[in-house]
Amino acid sequence: MKTTLNNIQYIDFPVVKDYRGNLAFIQEGAIPYNFKRIYYLFDVPSGAERGGHAHIEQNEILIALSGSFDVVLDDGESKKKYTLNRPATGLHIVDGIWRELTNFSSGAICLVIAEDVYNEADYIRDYQEFLSYKKG
Ligand code: TYD
Repeated sequence: MKTTLNNIQYIDFPVVKDYRGNLAFIQEGAIPYNFKRIYYLFDVPSGAERGGHAHIEQNEILIALSGSFDVVLDDGESKKKYTLNRPATGLHIVDGIWRELTNFSSGAICLVIAEDVYNEADYIRDYQEFLSYKKG
């Protein structure tokens, strides 16, 4: 499938509100793929940028568990900036989308729910290669 930014969507997860603190949960069926891995970015220094790649086959959902950051997505034809700052809202990034993560607030934590285990062969890390891949 030739994915585009039209395939990108936010997913709101259920929250159990409580005066003692809120609880959000993500269980089977709440996201549109089966996941095999969770990883998270933390202690991101001020001004640092992450991402700078696309995945060939892997879906991912990004959540700002704490703080905020921007996710700039690019489908090879257009770019759009998504600001994540809500711990019960995920951004579903389908395969074949270039992503840059910027503007991390102090203490921000980016949780990623990934479809597959880590596999460097699933990455495109060169932007020109990404553009050729999308055209091909
Ligand atoms: P990368 O996916 O490029 O991080 P980001 O997109 O957040 O900037 O990965 C950075 C490094 O971490 C790279 O050397 C691969 C390694 N890594 C793992 O070993 N396991 C993982 O699950 C992930 C996501 C990365």
